[in-house]
Amino acid sequence: MKIALIGYGKMGKTIEQIALKRGHQIVSIIDINNPEDFNSDAFRGADVAIEFTTPATAFNNYMKCFEANVPVVSGTTGWLEHITEIKEKCEKEGKTFFYASNFSIGVNIFFALNKYLAKIMNRFPSYDVKMEEVHHIHKLDAPSGTAITLAEEILENMERKDRWTLESPEKPTDIAIHAIREGEVPGIHKVTYDSDVDYITIEHHAKSREGFALGAVIAAEYACGKKGFLGMEDMLKF
Ligand SMILES: NC(=O)c1ccc[n+]([C@@H]2O[C@H](COP(=O)([O-])OP(=O)(O)OC[C@H]3O[C@@H](n4cnc5c(N)ncnc54)[C@H](O)[C@@H]3O)[C@@H](O)[C@H]2O)c1
Repeated sequence: MKIALIGYGKMGKTIEQIALKRGHQIVSIIDINNPEDFNSDAFRGADVAIEFTTPATAFNNYMKCFEANVPVVSGTTGWLEHITEIKEKCEKEGKTFFYASNFSIGVNIFFALNKYLAKIMNRFPSYDVKMEEVHHIHKLDAPSGTAITLAEEILENMERKDRWTLESPEKPTDIAIHAIREGEVPGIHKVTYDSDVDYITIEHHAKSREGFALGAVIAAEYACGKKGFLGMEDMLKF
Protein backbone atom coordinates (compact mmCIF):
# COMPACT_ATOMS: atom_id res chain seq x y z
CA MET A 1 0.00 0.00 0.00
CA LYS A 2 1.09 3.59 -0.68
CA ILE A 3 0.63 5.45 2.61
CA ALA A 4 0.63 9.21 3.21
CA LEU A 5 1.39 10.27 6.78
CA ILE A 6 -0.23 13.44 8.09
CA GLY A 7 1.47 14.43 11.35
CA TYR A 8 5.06 13.32 11.83
CA GLY A 9 5.21 13.43 15.62
CA LYS A 10 5.47 10.57 18.12
CA MET A 11 2.68 8.53 16.50
CA GLY A 12 3.54 9.43 12.87
CA LYS A 13 7.12 8.22 13.34
CA THR A 14 6.09 4.97 15.06
CA ILE A 15 3.52 4.30 12.32
CA GLU A 16 6.18 4.84 9.64
CA GLN A 17 8.42 2.14 11.18
CA ILE A 18 5.59 -0.37 11.49
CA ALA A 19 4.21 0.34 8.00
CA LEU A 20 7.66 -0.21 6.45
CA LYS A 21 8.07 -3.49 8.40
CA ARG A 22 4.71 -4.65 6.99
CA GLY A 23 5.92 -3.99 3.43
CA HIS A 24 4.13 -0.69 2.76
CA GLN A 25 5.57 2.43 1.14
CA ILE A 26 5.45 5.92 2.69
CA VAL A 27 4.85 8.19 -0.32
CA SER A 28 4.18 11.53 1.41
CA ILE A 29 4.75 13.03 4.87
CA ILE A 30 2.83 16.20 5.71
CA ASP A 31 3.48 18.09 8.93
CA ILE A 32 2.78 21.65 10.05
CA ASN A 33 5.33 23.28 7.71
CA ASN A 34 4.41 21.69 4.35
CA PRO A 35 0.59 21.83 3.91
CA GLU A 36 1.16 22.57 0.19
CA ASP A 37 1.99 18.86 -0.20
CA PHE A 38 -1.74 18.09 -0.01
CA ASN A 39 -1.70 19.21 -3.68
CA SER A 40 1.26 17.02 -4.67
CA ASP A 41 0.92 14.05 -7.02
CA ALA A 42 2.57 11.88 -4.35
CA PHE A 43 -0.16 12.68 -1.82
CA ARG A 44 -2.98 12.44 -4.38
CA GLY A 45 -1.66 9.04 -5.50
CA ALA A 46 -1.68 7.54 -1.98
CA ASP A 47 -3.96 4.56 -1.28
CA VAL A 48 -4.64 5.87 2.23
CA ALA A 49 -3.62 8.70 4.56
CA ILE A 50 -2.94 8.06 8.25
CA GLU A 51 -3.57 11.21 10.29
CA PHE A 52 -2.26 11.79 13.84
CA THR A 53 -1.98 15.55 14.48
CA THR A 54 -3.81 17.78 16.97
CA PRO A 55 -7.45 18.36 18.01
CA ALA A 56 -7.41 21.81 16.34
CA THR A 57 -5.97 20.71 12.99
CA ALA A 58 -7.47 17.28 12.34
CA PHE A 59 -10.78 18.34 10.78
CA ASN A 60 -9.13 20.59 8.19
CA ASN A 61 -6.76 17.74 7.29
CA TYR A 62 -9.72 15.37 6.79
CA MET A 63 -11.28 17.88 4.38
CA LYS A 64 -8.02 18.06 2.40
CA CYS A 65 -7.97 14.24 2.14
CA PHE A 66 -11.61 14.16 1.04
CA GLU A 67 -10.88 16.84 -1.63
CA ALA A 68 -8.04 14.64 -2.94
CA ASN A 69 -10.23 11.52 -2.69
CA VAL A 70 -7.72 9.79 -0.42
CA PRO A 71 -9.25 7.52 2.29
CA VAL A 72 -8.38 8.69 5.80
CA VAL A 73 -7.50 6.71 8.93
CA SER A 74 -7.26 9.02 11.94
CA GLY A 75 -6.44 8.59 15.59
CA THR A 76 -6.35 12.26 16.54
CA THR A 77 -8.61 12.83 19.53
CA GLY A 78 -10.54 15.89 20.71
CA TRP A 79 -12.27 16.91 17.41
CA LEU A 80 -15.58 15.04 17.84
CA GLU A 81 -17.74 18.19 17.60
CA HIS A 82 -17.36 17.74 13.80
CA ILE A 83 -18.33 14.08 13.69
CA THR A 84 -21.79 14.63 12.12
CA GLU A 85 -20.24 16.51 9.21
CA ILE A 86 -17.69 13.75 8.64
CA LYS A 87 -20.38 11.05 8.74
CA GLU A 88 -22.44 13.03 6.20
CA LYS A 89 -19.45 13.30 3.84
CA CYS A 90 -19.03 9.53 4.06
CA GLU A 91 -22.71 8.75 3.53
CA LYS A 92 -23.58 11.36 0.89
CA GLU A 93 -20.30 11.69 -0.99
CA GLY A 94 -18.93 8.14 -0.69
CA LYS A 95 -15.79 9.15 1.25
CA THR A 96 -13.81 6.73 3.40
CA PHE A 97 -12.99 7.61 7.01
CA PHE A 98 -11.78 5.26 9.75
CA TYR A 99 -11.66 6.67 13.27
CA ALA A 100 -10.70 5.07 16.56
CA SER A 101 -10.15 6.88 19.84
CA ASN A 102 -7.73 4.03 20.48
CA PHE A 103 -6.26 1.74 17.82
CA SER A 104 -4.74 -0.75 20.24
CA ILE A 105 -6.26 -4.23 19.84
CA GLY A 106 -5.86 -4.74 23.63
CA VAL A 107 -7.80 -1.57 24.40
CA ASN A 108 -10.57 -2.70 22.07
CA ILE A 109 -10.76 -6.01 23.96
CA PHE A 110 -10.91 -3.85 27.11
CA PHE A 111 -13.82 -1.86 25.57
CA ALA A 112 -15.72 -5.14 25.09
CA LEU A 113 -15.05 -6.14 28.73
CA ASN A 114 -16.11 -2.68 29.92
CA LYS A 115 -19.47 -2.96 28.13
CA TYR A 116 -20.06 -6.45 29.51
CA LEU A 117 -19.22 -5.38 33.06
CA ALA A 118 -21.49 -2.28 32.79
CA LYS A 119 -24.38 -4.52 31.68
CA ILE A 120 -23.86 -6.75 34.75
CA MET A 121 -23.44 -3.77 37.10
CA ASN A 122 -26.67 -2.22 35.84
CA ARG A 123 -28.37 -4.79 38.12
CA PHE A 124 -26.25 -3.94 41.20
CA PRO A 125 -26.87 -0.35 42.34
CA SER A 126 -24.77 -0.82 45.50
CA TYR A 127 -21.73 -0.30 43.24
CA ASP A 128 -20.82 3.20 42.09
CA VAL A 129 -18.58 3.59 39.05
CA LYS A 130 -15.63 5.95 38.59
CA MET A 131 -12.81 6.18 36.08
CA GLU A 132 -9.17 7.23 35.96
CA GLU A 133 -6.86 7.83 33.02
CA VAL A 134 -3.12 8.60 33.08
CA HIS A 135 -1.13 9.98 30.13
CA HIS A 136 2.15 11.77 29.38
CA ILE A 137 2.41 15.51 30.06
CA HIS A 138 2.37 16.42 26.32
CA LYS A 139 -1.20 15.25 25.79
CA LEU A 140 -3.39 18.23 24.80
CA ASP A 141 -6.90 16.92 25.59
CA ALA A 142 -8.48 15.63 28.82
CA PRO A 143 -10.17 13.33 29.44
CA SER A 144 -8.57 11.11 26.81
CA GLY A 145 -10.62 10.01 23.80
CA THR A 146 -10.32 6.45 25.13
CA ALA A 147 -11.76 7.47 28.52
CA ILE A 148 -14.66 9.19 26.73
CA THR A 149 -15.36 6.02 24.72
CA LEU A 150 -15.29 3.94 27.94
CA ALA A 151 -17.62 6.39 29.70
CA GLU A 152 -20.06 6.52 26.79
CA GLU A 153 -20.21 2.74 26.63
CA ILE A 154 -20.99 2.63 30.37
CA LEU A 155 -23.72 5.27 29.88
CA GLU A 156 -25.30 3.17 27.12
CA ASN A 157 -25.48 0.15 29.44
CA MET A 158 -26.16 1.59 32.90
CA GLU A 159 -29.51 3.24 33.60
CA ARG A 160 -28.45 5.00 36.84
CA LYS A 161 -25.84 7.20 35.10
CA ASP A 162 -26.62 9.94 32.58
CA ARG A 163 -23.35 11.79 31.78
CA TRP A 164 -19.61 11.82 32.43
CA THR A 165 -17.77 14.70 34.12
CA LEU A 166 -14.11 15.58 34.29
CA GLU A 167 -12.94 15.34 37.92
CA SER A 168 -15.61 15.81 40.68
CA PRO A 169 -19.08 14.40 40.14
CA GLU A 170 -21.87 16.94 40.77
CA LYS A 171 -24.74 14.42 40.99
CA PRO A 172 -24.99 10.68 41.78
CA THR A 173 -25.93 10.19 38.11
CA ASP A 174 -22.49 11.46 36.95
CA ILE A 175 -19.53 9.24 36.08
CA ALA A 176 -16.41 11.08 37.30
CA ILE A 177 -13.24 10.76 35.20
CA HIS A 178 -10.02 11.62 37.00
CA ALA A 179 -7.36 12.64 34.42
CA ILE A 180 -3.69 12.57 35.48
CA ARG A 181 -0.80 13.87 33.37
CA GLU A 182 2.65 12.62 34.36
CA GLY A 183 6.01 11.79 32.79
CA GLU A 184 5.95 9.87 29.52
CA VAL A 185 3.11 7.43 30.36
CA PRO A 186 1.75 6.05 27.01
CA GLY A 187 -1.72 5.42 28.51
CA ILE A 188 -3.46 3.83 31.50
CA HIS A 189 -7.25 3.49 31.85
CA LYS A 190 -9.09 2.19 34.91
CA VAL A 191 -12.79 1.62 35.54
CA THR A 192 -13.68 0.94 39.18
CA TYR A 193 -16.95 -0.25 40.70
CA ASP A 194 -16.95 0.56 44.40
CA SER A 195 -19.40 -0.70 47.05
CA ASP A 196 -19.35 -0.53 50.87
CA VAL A 197 -17.80 -4.00 51.08
CA ASP A 198 -15.47 -4.31 48.09
CA TYR A 199 -14.37 -2.87 44.78
CA ILE A 200 -13.73 -4.28 41.32
CA THR A 201 -11.31 -2.58 38.93
CA ILE A 202 -10.56 -3.39 35.32
CA GLU A 203 -7.54 -1.65 33.82
CA HIS A 204 -5.48 -1.44 30.66
CA HIS A 205 -1.85 -0.32 30.56
CA ALA A 206 -0.16 0.45 27.25
CA LYS A 207 3.55 -0.43 27.44
CA SER A 208 4.49 1.74 24.42
CA ARG A 209 2.97 3.49 21.39
CA GLU A 210 3.57 0.45 19.17
CA GLY A 211 0.19 -1.13 19.90
CA PHE A 212 -1.62 2.02 18.73
CA ALA A 213 0.57 2.34 15.64
CA LEU A 214 0.16 -1.32 14.61
CA GLY A 215 -3.63 -1.02 14.99
CA ALA A 216 -3.64 2.10 12.81
CA VAL A 217 -1.67 0.37 10.03
CA ILE A 218 -3.98 -2.70 10.19
CA ALA A 219 -6.96 -0.27 10.02
CA ALA A 220 -5.42 1.36 6.92
CA GLU A 221 -5.09 -2.09 5.29
CA TYR A 222 -8.75 -2.75 6.17
CA ALA A 223 -10.06 0.67 4.98
CA CYS A 224 -8.41 0.47 1.56
CA GLY A 225 -11.09 -0.22 -1.05
CA LYS A 226 -13.98 0.32 1.42
CA LYS A 227 -16.37 3.27 1.64
CA GLY A 228 -18.10 4.93 4.55
CA PHE A 229 -17.50 5.79 8.20
CA LEU A 230 -15.57 2.87 9.69
CA GLY A 231 -14.33 1.92 13.16
CA MET A 232 -12.69 -0.83 15.17
CA GLU A 233 -16.00 -2.63 15.70
CA ASP A 234 -16.36 -3.08 11.92
CA MET A 235 -12.81 -4.41 11.71
CA LEU A 236 -12.63 -6.62 14.81
CA LYS A 237 -16.24 -7.85 14.78
CA PHE A 238 -16.39 -8.79 18.48
N1 LIG B 1 -6.20 6.78 18.57
C1 LIG B 1 -5.08 6.33 19.15
O1 LIG B 1 -4.87 5.11 19.26
C2 LIG B 1 -4.06 7.32 19.63
C3 LIG B 1 -2.85 6.90 20.21
C4 LIG B 1 -1.90 7.87 20.55
C5 LIG B 1 -2.17 9.21 20.33
N2 LIG B 1 -3.37 9.58 19.80
C6 LIG B 1 -3.68 10.98 19.46
O2 LIG B 1 -2.99 11.29 18.26
C7 LIG B 1 -2.66 12.67 18.21
C8 LIG B 1 -1.17 12.83 17.92
O3 LIG B 1 -0.42 12.24 18.97
P1 LIG B 1 1.19 12.30 18.98
O4 LIG B 1 1.57 11.68 20.28
O5 LIG B 1 1.76 11.79 17.70
O6 LIG B 1 1.42 13.91 19.07
P2 LIG B 1 2.73 14.72 18.65
O7 LIG B 1 2.56 16.07 19.28
O8 LIG B 1 3.96 13.94 18.93
O9 LIG B 1 2.60 14.86 17.06
C9 LIG B 1 1.66 15.69 16.42
C10 LIG B 1 2.29 16.12 15.10
O10 LIG B 1 1.29 16.81 14.35
C11 LIG B 1 1.94 17.90 13.70
N3 LIG B 1 0.97 18.90 13.27
C12 LIG B 1 0.43 19.92 13.97
N4 LIG B 1 -0.42 20.62 13.18
C13 LIG B 1 -0.41 20.02 11.97
C14 LIG B 1 -1.08 20.29 10.74
N5 LIG B 1 -1.92 21.32 10.59
N6 LIG B 1 -0.86 19.45 9.69
C15 LIG B 1 0.00 18.41 9.80
N7 LIG B 1 0.68 18.13 10.95
C16 LIG B 1 0.47 18.93 12.01
C17 LIG B 1 2.93 18.42 14.76
O11 LIG B 1 3.91 19.26 14.18
C18 LIG B 1 3.47 17.10 15.28
O12 LIG B 1 4.57 16.64 14.52
C19 LIG B 1 -3.16 13.24 19.55
O13 LIG B 1 -4.46 13.78 19.35
C20 LIG B 1 -3.23 12.03 20.46
O14 LIG B 1 -4.19 12.17 21.49
C21 LIG B 1 -4.31 8.66 19.46
